[in-house]
Amino acid sequence: MSQLHKENGKKSPKTWSFELSDEAGYTAWRDAKLANYPTTWDESIVTVHDMANPTSDEISQLLDMCQKTNMAIYDSNRTATPEALESFCANFGLKTMESHRSAGGHGVVSIEQTSTDTRGGYIPYTNKPLSWHTDGYYNAPEQRIRAMILHCGRDAGEGGINALLDPEIAYIRMRDENPDFIKAFMHKECYTIPENTDPRTPLRPISVGPIFEVDPETGALHMRFSARGRSVIWRDDETTLQARNFLTHLLENDPLILRYKLQSGQGVISNNVLHNRTGLTDNAEPGHRRLMYRIRYFERMANT
Ligand SMILES: [Fe+2]
Repeated sequence: MSQLHKENGKKSPKTWSFELSDEAGYTAWRDAKLANYPTTWDESIVTVHDMANPTSDEISQLLDMCQKTNMAIYDSNRTATPEALESFCANFGLKTMESHRSAGGHGVVSIEQTSTDTRGGYIPYTNKPLSWHTDGYYNAPEQRIRAMILHCGRDAGEGGINALLDPEIAYIRMRDENPDFIKAFMHKECYTIPENTDPRTPLRPISVGPIFEVDPETGALHMRFSARGRSVIWRDDETTLQARNFLTHLLENDPLILRYKLQSGQGVISNNVLHNRTGLTDNAEPGHRRLMYRIRYFERMANT
């Protein structure tokens, strides 16, 4: 997994399988992963002076963070155009965007409170809290969301704080507690999202799959998960239930959860890590509603 080695002058991860058979490999990787793992963001936020043209030093700092934690926060001190966000992401090998039903130009979805268009009525587009998930947890396997960027156009008056957790940390905690939890979460029928027949959106077929899997294309760990209770069917199995309860507890308490309120001009780029959002109150001034821009990609960030 993440024993970094130099290749053509760039760091790239040497991967091993996340399957349970390689105990010695796992232990070495886990120890390296947990060593010096950041517990706060403040000193790790990377200043980006021009989103459309980040410098090689800025890219390198962000990549270093992503190699360690699968995510990084940047501060561009101002908002960014869709074109600038797209150019920024391209520096990390992110090119193939999901064509989301609510995407505007350059694949960007505006996340803000609205009751109109295809976004109306869905929780991300309200001021309510958003429970833990990875993006695209209902997508078909060939449309795995491997990376994403969330850029803050305008921060909330109050609340709107994100919590983020690297899925590799969740994997480590669960495997160390009970390897059978990993087995249960890797079961191909662990988790079912029924089809979406909402007439406002294209029909989404039933989605059945594991929570954790070794991505067949990259060898990296891929996690699909939503903590939502409604419209989710878990495999009826005692170990699966215990694993779910363990994960629920973990997502409340793990010391490596990073909680951060993105300010205007700041953003997080990640390999689609676990995240949630607290409820929020918009700034009272008209036109100052919280606004986040999001792009989802089918690629994983290069060299992570
Ligand atoms: Fe999300």
